[in-house]
Amino acid sequence: MCCLLIWRLLAAALWSQSPEVKNPYTTPRDVAAGGRIYRSHCVECHGLKGEGGRGPDLTRGEYRHGGSDAALFKTIGNGVAGTQMPGVYYEDHQIWQIAAFVRSLASGGGRLKIPGNSSAGEKIFFGKGGCAGCHMVRGRGGRFGPDLSAIGSSRNPSNLRASILRPSDDLPMQWWIVEATTKAGKGYRGLRFNEDTYTVQILDFRKDLVSLRKADLARLQVESKTSFMPVYEGKLASGEIDDLVAYLYGLQRKAREE
Ligand code: HEC
Ligand code: HEC
Repeated sequence: MCCLLIWRLLAAALWSQSPEVKNPYTTPRDVAAGGRIYRSHCVECHGLKGEGGRGPDLTRGEYRHGGSDAALFKTIGNGVAGTQMPGVYYEDHQIWQIAAFVRSLASGGGRLKIPGNSSAGEKIFFGKGGCAGCHMVRGRGGRFGPDLSAIGSSRNPSNLRASILRPSDDLPMQWWIVEATTKAGKGYRGLRFNEDTYTVQILDFRKDLVSLRKADLARLQVESKTSFMPVYEGKLASGEIDDLVAYLYGLQRKAREE
């Protein structure tokens, strides 16, 4: 496993230097095999047809992390650090097969056409919407919600729209509010930052990030799975939501030079 990983990193480093490396696994059987892995590991974020959702739309046939075969291999094998895009621990030939399948999703439709007006959306974001009170965009704004500087690279427009209208649907676990009491009687309340078999990390509302051993706890419970982002459904006009979506979708990571 370990050697496979090192080899993978090395191979990816070499191949990313030479974008002329071509995918050796592109027969219809390879595409079908890649499709099976895609359906079990990728659909939840990229959608059955690659239309995107929690992950970007893959039907455009443009890849910000590099469009060469070697770059796709690297993105799929290693994931994208600092984002929800995970790496997969498969054999190289399987990663190539997934890459072949991903290419087959591209319908060449180009950039999605969406109805809103992005500069009107920017005004709402920093103005009446109050979004910048919690969200940072390229250095401007608050820190009570995730930084949205490149959110358009990560989500598709319908996912963005749903996030604004109904923030608590599908709320990621690190935004759940939990309560913990130690056996010694100390209480903590805050965001459930992370949890594994033995410990839980809570971003406490009064203090800082605390790491608690579950063995020391008398009680640990989820208090709410409701986002503290306000619900905007009914508060902004539908056209204003379109504008916000257009603005956010336009906040894209710059394409990597190849
Ligand atoms: C938990 C959600 C999630 C899963 C599961 C996931 N992805 Fe992603 N993927 C993302 C996100 C988010 C990004 C955007 C990363 C960024 O911000 O640049 C991404 C980016 C990508 C990109 C790069 C797009 C570009 O423009 O360069 C490709 C290709 C990709 N994913 C393919 C896959 C494949 C194939 C799988 C399954 C093996 C997969 N993803 C599984 C969330 C996910
Ligand atoms: C009181 C603070 C607050 C305000 C005001 C607020 N948000 Fe949020 N927002 C959050 C938090 C916290 C999250 C993360 C939890 C979640 O997904 O609901 C979030 C999540 C999001 C997401 C999803 C991000 C992702 O990674 O998918 C989007 C998009 C978003 N907000 C846009 C907006 C827009 C647009 C506005 C203004 C109309 C706004 N927010 C106003 C706190 C806020």
